[in-house]
Order: sequence, then structure tokens, then C-alpha cells
Amino acid sequence: ADGTVEIPVIFNVIYNTTAQNISDARIAEQIAVLNADYSATNSDIGDIPTEFQPAAAGNVKISFKLVKINRKQSSKTAWKSTVDEMKYSANGGIDATDTTKNLNIWVVNSILDNKNKPGTLGYAYYPEDAGLEDDGVVLDYRYVGKTGATFPYNLGRTATHEVGHYLNLPHLWGSSDNGCETDFSADTPASPGPNFDEPSYPLYAVCGGINRSQMFMNYMDYVDDRAMCMFSANQKTRMRAVVATNGPRAGLR
Ligand code: ARG
Ligand code: ZN
Ligand code: CA
Repeated sequence: ADGTVEIPVIFNVIYNTTAQNISDARIAEQIAVLNADYSATNSDIGDIPTEFQPAAAGNVKISFKLVKINRKQSSKTAWKSTVDEMKYSANGGIDATDTTKNLNIWVVNSILDNKNKPGTLGYAYYPEDAGLEDDGVVLDYRYVGKTGATFPYNLGRTATHEVGHYLNLPHLWGSSDNGCETDFSADTPASPGPNFDEPSYPLYAVCGGINRSQMFMNYMDYVDDRAMCMFSANQKTRMRAVVATNGPRAGLR
């Protein structure tokens, strides 16, 4: 009634050891984090500095409903992101459930990057991939939910960040590693690149010769889970356009 769009979510858990077969409770906890962060009801929403409060999104009005958990045991100990190995049963993975209608989230024991190096927390596809069989989000099991998750990414915010990409949000510094590129949101200050750990506010950085206070507490930066707590108003506009009736992910609604 308030215009909230509810996205159906399918979890596909592929594990080798039983510890990697994360519990239903932990998946429920992850869904709860997404719902809190996307409605600005997260317990740390009060950490937004006064300077950035006018730019805060408030309730994004996108919610998440768990519809199914698929589970599969595998002998694999790592998964190549470049070829989306985990998304195909022919490779020992789990095939997506209708990506036009559901957000598929795959949980694996280790994600290899484009150099086959482990350590990626998660990755996602932008709406340009909408409806393809590999569309969705992949997460390392260590960073799903809260209870039993690995510090400092133990508050479920890897999913918040990756779903942001899935809903058309680039990083604050733009889509390349060069930095100081547009993220198509004028209300997030230009940024030369990722921030890590738990920065102290204010943190200044230069793009195009202009020194700006950085919105490092935005979910689309790389800081620790405990240091991120907000989307901006324009990020909300971008995400809602994706799930609007004429948007690229309208099938989710
Ligand atoms: N795309 C980043 C990675 O794969 C994820 C960053 C998530 N940040 C966080 N605080 N959970 O490394
Ligand atoms: Zn990212
Ligand atoms: Ca910006």
C-alpha cells in the first residue's frame, strides 16, 4: 500500500563441509538485514553524519521475501566467478530459478576472481543482465547473515552491497578502478577509490582538484560492515527505477 516492491529471493547453497551449509536461521537473518537496510530501519541508521542526513535515502521501499532454499553438496572447494561455475548444475552448481521473477543468491565456499585468486566477498550482475540464466548475486558463506559470520564482514552487508549492484548502483568512485568517475548520483560526493576498515569522520579526498568530505558510510563503499549504514536519495531513485513497472527488473514485482 505504501508502494513497497517485494522481491522474491531464492537461496542456492552449495557446500563441501557441513559448516559451509549455512543454516535456515542464518539465511533468515540475512533477509532481515536486507529488509532493515533497504527500509532505513537498521539499528545504526543514527550513525549518518549530520552533513549527509539531507542526502539520505530513508525508506527505499524495496523489500525481500525468502521463497526457497536449494541445497547441494559438492566436492569443489572454490568457484570461478568469470564463468559463473556455481550457477550451472553441469559444473556441480545449482541452476537458477526463473531469474526474470526471482533474485537468485548463490552461496559458495570460496569465490575466485578473474586471476583465479580467492578472497572475493561477493559479486553481482547489473540490470543489463536481467533475465539471463546467470543473473543474480553470489556470496561467500563466511559473509552471509550475522551469527557465525566472519568479522569485519559479519553484519550481512555484503548482500546489501551486492544487491545494490543488482539494482543498478555502481561503486561511489564509478565502475572502473580508475576512481573519480561518475556513479550517476550527484548526492554522493566524487570519490577517488574505495575506503576500508572503519574510517573516522570527516574523511576528505580529492577528485578533479576539489577536496570533498567522503560518504564512506554508504553501502556502496568497501568499509567494514559496522562502518556502513546508508544509501543516498538518488541511489534510491536509481534502484526504484529498476523495479518500476517499466524497469528492466519489472518481472520481480
Ligand atoms: N564487491 C566487494 C568484494 O567482493 C564487496 C564489498 C562488501 N563490503 C562489505 N563491507 N561487506 O570484495
Ligand atoms: Zn561492489
Ligand atoms: Ca556521486
